[in-house]
Amino acid sequence: MEIQSTQVGIQDVIQRLHRDLPSILADQFGTKILALHPPRFVKRPYSTNAIVQVETREGTHGYFVKQIIHHPLNVVAFADQPDQASIEYRILEELHPRFVDIERCAVPRPIILYRDADAYVTQFVDARDLVGDMHLVHYGANRRRFGELLQNFEASGRWLRHFQGALDIHRSGEEVASYVLKRCLDRVARVEELGASWVDPQFADRARDYIESLFRRLDMSLIAVVPRHGDFGPWNTLANDNGITVIDFFGAGDGPCCEDLLSVLVWLDALKHGIANSGRRIDRLAQAFLTSFGPVRPQQTEFVLLCEAFQRLLRIVGALHSYAADKDRRATWPERIERRGNLAANVGWFQARPQRSTIWPSAGNIPAGNPAADNIPR
Ligand SMILES: Nc1ncnc2c1ncn2[C@@H]1O[C@H](COP(=O)(O)OP(=O)(O)OP(=O)(O)O)[C@@H](O)[C@H]1O
Ligand SMILES: [Mg+2]
Repeated sequence: MEIQSTQVGIQDVIQRLHRDLPSILADQFGTKILALHPPRFVKRPYSTNAIVQVETREGTHGYFVKQIIHHPLNVVAFADQPDQASIEYRILEELHPRFVDIERCAVPRPIILYRDADAYVTQFVDARDLVGDMHLVHYGANRRRFGELLQNFEASGRWLRHFQGALDIHRSGEEVASYVLKRCLDRVARVEELGASWVDPQFADRARDYIESLFRRLDMSLIAVVPRHGDFGPWNTLANDNGITVIDFFGAGDGPCCEDLLSVLVWLDALKHGIANSGRRIDRLAQAFLTSFGPVRPQQTEFVLLCEAFQRLLRIVGALHSYAADKDRRATWPERIERRGNLAANVGWFQARPQRSTIWPSAGNIPAGNPAADNIPR
């Protein structure tokens, strides 16, 4: 469902791109177009995509068009920053040159922004979605290919470390913590709307109390703010023989230093509930990711828990959405196992007493008000 249709249709965006491609190719490669292939379109819940390919004397060049859809679930992001296509595009412009020399790590090269159409174009990356390789955590799955998956998780850790140092910071710790709180409460409200028969009726009230109590105990001066992707993980990572390319900077900006790390760790944790999945292989992926990320800054326990609560709520809402979508398309059995795992791991986390992070790497989290907190690097 769209709440606001964009003024310019995707066909018009393609026409503009066709108009602009001759000069783009001349500037970038000093070459001319010999033929244009018909574009391929993909309509997704949050964007409409098109792949445009052109033939030149030197070979085929591909372009990926992304036109943002104003989806009800992203109301918070749009209210905050309405011009999302420009934001994503500017981030790619900043990041692309910085990743050119980073081993096996990239972002797509930005080509052109059509601001009034909420659309932008990047180079087409000939690669697969990394999430599609996750069957390699199954018991007995091909070892050599699992080794490649490990390498890609290692590259993801390295990518994230570089990303966290690659953009300027504009928001304070307090603003960032308030934003996490707001997004947590928003997701709890979604669980309430969608939850009904799948989640304990007390869940929303308890989760709200817990989240608010964590927030009240925060020492805002200790919160480390870094650039955050906001939806970081194998589902927004492309992989090919050259390594990984991270995509989809919708909603990226300043955030808590633990958010993107926890996004991957919480997701891996839920996978352990899949009956075919090897917990040992999943642990090895988490280890490869964390090792290449490098040292994790000590954080207030309450803050790690607040960020972890948010990631777990995202997963719960995702699983509940998938149940709701069964009316239209019955989930496949792997999808059903995955969402059951998600609910078991993530609702279970909120129900455990006391809640504590079992996945955050630094065992020595620092309680708020602890004098040792004075020495925390920001
Ligand atoms: N530059 C690119 N080259 C090739 N494929 C791409 C590129 N960018 C994105 N894709 C493909 O398009 C898909 C959707 O892209 P993206 O994640 O940016 O959009 P989205 O609307 O946020 O989708 P989703 O909600 O599924 O995350 C990706 O999973 C990937 O398969
Ligand atoms: Mg995406």
